[in-house]
Amino acid sequence: MTAAIRALPISYPRVDRRACSTTGPIFLSAGGAAAGCTPESGPAVADSLPGGRSALDEHPSDRAAVTRRVGVMPKAARYDDVAGFYAAGWSDDVDDPASVRLLDLLGPLARRRVLDLACGHGRISRALARRGAAVVGVDLSSALIEKARAAERETPLGIRYVHADATDPGPLDATECGGVSDGASSGVDGIAGAADPGGVGLFDAVVCAFGLSDIDDLEGAVATVARTLRPGGVFACSILHPCFPGGQGVSGSWPGDARYHAEGWWRADGDRSTLRRQVGANHRTLATYVNTLRRHGLWLDAMDEPKPAQEWAATRPDAARFPVFLVMRCVLR
Ligand SMILES: C[S@@+](CC[C@H](N)C(=O)[O-])C[C@H]1O[C@@H](n2cnc3c(N)ncnc32)[C@H](O)[C@@H]1O
Repeated sequence: MTAAIRALPISYPRVDRRACSTTGPIFLSAGGAAAGCTPESGPAVADSLPGGRSALDEHPSDRAAVTRRVGVMPKAARYDDVAGFYAAGWSDDVDDPASVRLLDLLGPLARRRVLDLACGHGRISRALARRGAAVVGVDLSSALIEKARAAERETPLGIRYVHADATDPGPLDATECGGVSDGASSGVDGIAGAADPGGVGLFDAVVCAFGLSDIDDLEGAVATVARTLRPGGVFACSILHPCFPGGQGVSGSWPGDARYHAEGWWRADGDRSTLRRQVGANHRTLATYVNTLRRHGLWLDAMDEPKPAQEWAATRPDAARFPVFLVMRCVLR
């Protein structure tokens, strides 16, 4: 294991590495709308098959979906354009069933070093810090990282926010992650120098709340998780359930006119899937998630399919017939 996360300059004009790919599957709904999480259900999302081949290539009968295919994927920092919308919709309450379960699965957090991968504006980072963890949050969106840093200035919790691509195999800069707990409520020794200066094995736990389906390079993200965790460390993540087909007005994990096995990035079109209509999501099969984790030494240890909140289910009875969220905990062996 050699490396981890490289800090990016703020306002980094990143072009997605697959932007010019002609092989990656890209779905785009006619209405330009999105799936994954509705604002009510929280943020969620997925990649091409190993070797860069699209699942669509395996399923020619899914060609109907390709009529909406586009040649260029939007920049990966898709949340820069919706930072205000996102931060307003997902507050620090962290009371949605998936996030509650995610935090439960992590167990006691006092004095634990935790990396919040794809931390957004830091709502989960702050929940972790309030439970006593020493937290580093990493996100690709400079706008969301700025919001996270502003919250930290207003109410210091000792969280270090890093603007970086979680899939970048560059070295984890000790100065970027250093001082995470200096003066933090957790009282944990500073992370800088606490472990390998390259970031290897630095964290007791890595968390990714509704981030994996937003990250275009799943393999790269999971490699980062495995690299930054200490042996025996825990990775916990929540996603929109990859088997969720959606319901009336609510987009599922994949386009309604495609098939579960067709993986790729797409924009949802459900009226109520307001976030995913804007930022889209990567759909991947459950097997892709579990096998990718396993390839990187992350053994599935616990999983849950939390029921959506009563109000959500009552107003979306069609969608609520299916599993909506998936929460997993893995241990690095
Ligand atoms: C649905 S939001 C979740 C944010 C946060 N975890 C939460 O629960 O509020 C998904 C996040 O993934 C981030 N993201 C997408 N690709 C990323 C990448 N390659 N590296 C780091 N963050 C990424 C987005 O910028 C966005 O903030």
